[in-house]
Amino acid sequence: MQVAWFGKKKQKADDDIDLNHIPRHVAIIMDGNGRWAQRRGLPRQAGHSAGSEAFRRAADTLARLGVEVLTVYAFSTENWKRPAEEVSAIMRLLDKYLHESVREMQEKNIRLYFFGDLTPFSPELRKLIAETEKISETTTGMRVNVCLNYGGRDELTRACRLLAEDCEKGKLHASDITGEMVESRLYSAGVPDPDLLIRPGGEQRFSNFLLWQLAYTEFVFSDVLWPDFGEKEIRAAIAEYQHRKRRFGGV
Ligand code: IPE
Ligand code: IPE
Ligand code: MG
Repeated sequence: MQVAWFGKKKQKADDDIDLNHIPRHVAIIMDGNGRWAQRRGLPRQAGHSAGSEAFRRAADTLARLGVEVLTVYAFSTENWKRPAEEVSAIMRLLDKYLHESVREMQEKNIRLYFFGDLTPFSPELRKLIAETEKISETTTGMRVNVCLNYGGRDELTRACRLLAEDCEKGKLHASDITGEMVESRLYSAGVPDPDLLIRPGGEQRFSNFLLWQLAYTEFVFSDVLWPDFGEKEIRAAIAEYQHRKRRFGGV
């Protein structure tokens, strides 16, 4: 009797979501930092700083819920259009985050990987990124993919280029190219597609994010700005996901 009562109580504490059907892979477009700051009369940079804290909290929450992969959109190939001051503030934040993550990854048992063209970043930043990915070989927990100077079109163009190079070298015939071969040349090679995409910040578009991988992903949009997006909002997004009927083109 006692056991059954405890069992019931535990379920009640989590009755907003079903812990047996947690999405394996969650992707997030971390949007709304600038507006969050502007509404407070702060420079946009302050929003990015608050956004990086929201990212940490989200990673903790999702890891605790048993999510296996988290992919976040941190800086797009189009974000270079922003004022130089804002771009350098984001680079400084990234540098700070990477320095801290070297310790944090081991503490929290997180694996950190980066998707995107890293060539425009400073040699110091690239070195830190390489170090971080090296540590990821020693940790075993949730995998976090951070998309930096990432664009879905850029990723697909790169995959085409890699396939064309193999054709030029005579390793491959154009007529033999398969979807699996395209997939294996994406930054996300070997990672299952996202089950759930969350976009806070009120916009309902995917702004050049994971164009290939989102083919059958469930979308949840929210008006809450990213720095305010907490555990409550994450659980609500997962609850909405759990009510969806995924058909993948079938019936
Ligand atoms: C997302 O927040 C972070 C980056 C694109 C780097 P924004 O900076 O786009 O915030 P809003 O959309 O202007 O509020
Ligand atoms: C998407 O947000 C990119 C990131 C969150 C990193 P944007 O703010 O750049 O997207 P748009 O310009 O509103 O489409
Ligand atoms: Mg934005």
